[in-house]
Order: sequence, then structure tokens, then C-alpha cells
Amino acid sequence: MADLSVKFLGIPLKNPVIAGSSGLTSTLEGVARAVDAGAGAVVLKSLFEEQLRAELSTISGNAGAHPEAEAFLAGMGMAEGAGEYLELIRKAKESSGVPIIASVNCSGDSLWAEFASSIEAAGADAIELNIGAVPTDPSVPASAIEDRLVSLVASVAGAVGIPVCSKIGSSFTNVGNVASRLAKAGSRGLTLFNRFYRMDVDLDAMSLSAGPMRGSPEAYHESLRWISILEGRVGAELSASGGVHDGATALRLIAAGAETVQMCSAVYAKGYGAIASTIGEMRAWLDARGIASVADLRGRLSRRNSPSPELYGRLHYVKALTGQG
Ligand SMILES: Cc1cc2nc3c(=O)[nH]c(=O)nc-3n(C[C@H](O)[C@H](O)[C@H](O)COP(=O)(O)O)c2cc1C
Repeated sequence: MADLSVKFLGIPLKNPVIAGSSGLTSTLEGVARAVDAGAGAVVLKSLFEEQLRAELSTISGNAGAHPEAEAFLAGMGMAEGAGEYLELIRKAKESSGVPIIASVNCSGDSLWAEFASSIEAAGADAIELNIGAVPTDPSVPASAIEDRLVSLVASVAGAVGIPVCSKIGSSFTNVGNVASRLAKAGSRGLTLFNRFYRMDVDLDAMSLSAGPMRGSPEAYHESLRWISILEGRVGAELSASGGVHDGATALRLIAAGAETVQMCSAVYAKGYGAIASTIGEMRAWLDARGIASVADLRGRLSRRNSPSPELYGRLHYVKALTGQG
């Protein structure tokens, strides 16, 4: 039987399928169900800056979160604060038997470096920085935003001994440059990609509303492109997030160069069993082809391993066009 074990962020995992950060991993029960389904690791639901601020304001009496942000978080079942989050880490670590990756949603505040130490002390195996702020001020140049992200990552990575992984969106002019800067700043891993909350308009209420939360299976193409281009070239291990709904997609991303894949929307759609079926399909595919381990497949189709890397971007383009018939 094919060996699915991998190392991610220096941590041994029994397989590369990670339960991604979401409401599915916000409780001990959710973590246990992901582990029962065979997940190689779990990324806990993100703790949001507003939750941390709210807690700090209770302690210090300072101004805390914006009231609308607090209402939003409460509406999403995230009213609990930082103390509960640390408790979740401790208990998940005690009971799950798989690596537990804590997640914090940050937009560039120095608060996180201090809190990261508490996350480490609570027993988390790693921290995923969910870098999720959408820039809304047209006057701020990309370089300033990127510099802030780099210094945020450097401050958190410098504050902890456990590995840090940055989860970024794909909307950068040069994803590869941002990726290598974050790696140099101390991010041992990169999760590609974060999907920002989508918005909509409720015409009847004449108000903004939430867009669809779940993603579609097609989302993996964006991760696949960048993972194949960046594998082995930016100094960070890559985890794919977006559109992993089955074993074939997980293996495609691994062939492109991902060390691990994360699942979220498929689990919302089909239940935690989607993790088990993905793992089963991966093993069956490798066994049917006599490939001894998932490590043998990893990166086979990345730019780095291509016979003509300089033509790789062009190749993507030509293949995409010829795929249209
Ligand atoms: C309901 C919901 C809640 C999510 N919450 C978080 C979160 O707290 N932190 C985070 O980093 N990503 C969060 N995500 C994003 C997922 O982890 C994942 O990156 C994204 O959904 C793309 O993967 P998918 O196609 O497998 O869903 C959330 C996604 C969904 C659908």
C-alpha cells in the first residue's frame, strides 16, 4: 500500500490531507470528526483580530473592536475570545493525536507577536497566519502593503519557536516575490490561497450582504498554477487550499509541488467523510500505478523539474489555449 506520509513545516504527518481552517474546525467535536475521518493535521478556525482586541479591551479598558465587526463575528459564531481559543488548542492537542495548527487572522497588527507566544505555550504545533485584509485605500501602494505583511510575519516568526505558515491571497502583482519575501521573513510554509470573503448586495434591503461562503471544485486551478511555478524556488513549503474535493485533485496539486492539501468547502458540502474518501482515492490511484509513496509524485510537474523551466510560463499559456479546442 502506498505510503502517504509527508513532512510539513518539519512536522511528520501520516498523510498530506489537512482539515482547513473554518467553522468545521472551531470546536473540539469538529476537530475530532476531522481526525476520525483520517486528516493528517487540522488547522483550527482563525482567531480574528477583533476577538483578540475585544478580550484585551475587557482586560485593559481600552477601546476594543469596532461594534460592527463585533456583531459580524458574533453572527458567525465567533463571539468567543482569545482565552477560549487557547483552551481549544490545549484540548485539541490533548485529544486529537494529530498536529494542531492554530490560525490567526491578522491585518498587520503588532498584537499578534505577543499572542503567538501564548499559542505556542498552549501546545500548538504550528501557526498559520491568515493574512486576510483587503486593501480599501487606493492611495496605499502595493509596496507599503507588502512591507507591512513582511514585518508582521517577521515579528510573529521571531516571537515563537514553532513553525509559521502564511496563508495569502493570490491578488499580488508578483505572488512569487511576496512568497519569497515572506519566506525570508521566517515563514516556513505558505498556504496558497486564502479566499477573501465575498460580498453581495441585497437589493430589497438595499444593503450589503455576504456572498457565497463556499468555494467550487474549480478553485484549485489557481493554486495549481502558482504551486507549480513556485515549488522549490521561494524557500517555503507549499500547502494548497482551494477546490480540493477529491483524491485526483489532491494528487494533481501534489504533482505540481504541494507538500499538503487543505480541505474545507468539500467537507461542508459532503461531510467529514470527504476527507476519508479523498485519502482513499489517493492511495488507490498510487497503488494502481505502482507508485510507492506520495513523496515520489511530489513536484514531478513543477517548473523546477521541467526540462525547460524558462518556457514554463509559456507552456501554461499554450496548454490552456489548446485545452479550449
Ligand atoms: C465557512 C468558511 C469559513 C472559513 N473560515 C476561515 C478561517 O477562519 N480562517 C481561514 O484561514 N480560512 C477560512 N476559510 C477559508 C478556507 O480555509 C479555505 O482556504 C477556502 O475555503 C478555500 O478552500 P476550499 O475550496 O476547500 O473551501 C473559511 C472558509 C469557509 C467556507
